[in-house]
Amino acid sequence: MTAEHWDARYRESERLWSGKPNDALVREVSDLPPGRALDLGCGEGGDAVWLARRGWRVTAVDVSRVALERAARHAAEAGVAERIDFQQHDLGESFPAGEFELVSAHFLHSLVDMPREEILRTAASAVVRGGVLLIVSHGGFPPWDHEHADVRLPTPQEILADLHLPEGQWEVQVCAEHERIQTGPDGTPVTRTDNTLRVRRSTVSR
Ligand SMILES: C[S@@+](CC[C@H](N)C(=O)[O-])C[C@H]1O[C@@H](n2cnc3c(N)ncnc32)[C@H](O)[C@@H]1O
Repeated sequence: MTAEHWDARYRESERLWSGKPNDALVREVSDLPPGRALDLGCGEGGDAVWLARRGWRVTAVDVSRVALERAARHAAEAGVAERIDFQQHDLGESFPAGEFELVSAHFLHSLVDMPREEILRTAASAVVRGGVLLIVSHGGFPPWDHEHADVRLPTPQEILADLHLPEGQWEVQVCAEHERIQTGPDGTPVTRTDNTLRVRRSTVSR
């Protein structure tokens, strides 16, 4: 059901997202040395391709085959196909194997039921010592989405608390809201509030 929902959403247009990496990814990851990265809910691959171009080996996961096919095409066009392993998972059901210097979840939201907190806890457990977990989320629905106007999305502090990170083993590097300009369906720019959580797993076990 989740895959069908997202496949249908992607089929509504030839391209759903801009193809560019998310601003928050560029801001938060540019200072990290490349290693193994896991991109959860990679969509059409904008972030995965950017990471691969910077030398990361990327495992890019999405529930939607349509999105993954587009992402693979974009990776081939960018000449980085061999650096990205695209995998289809419904993350509520299965999670990619491996451990990673970076686990990134950008806007891993869904109108179809998804155990997001549980998925993000599994994501934390896939981060190696010294590695980074980066979670970038919407702070609310866009103003043109009247159907969900009353739905409250978690703050970065709540997302952090839901990770249940063991005390003393993680450093909270960023836990903040930020604004982003997005173009609405009628072409008008609107300011949206997103939030970023960047936590780093300590290099030593305490
Ligand atoms: C809002 S989009 C964000 C896409 C991309 N990360 C970006 O920032 O452009 C959410 C993505 O998560 C994927 N997704 C939703 N639920 C999922 C699930 N249960 N398992 C894996 N991927 C899922 C969707 O197919 C979609 O590509």
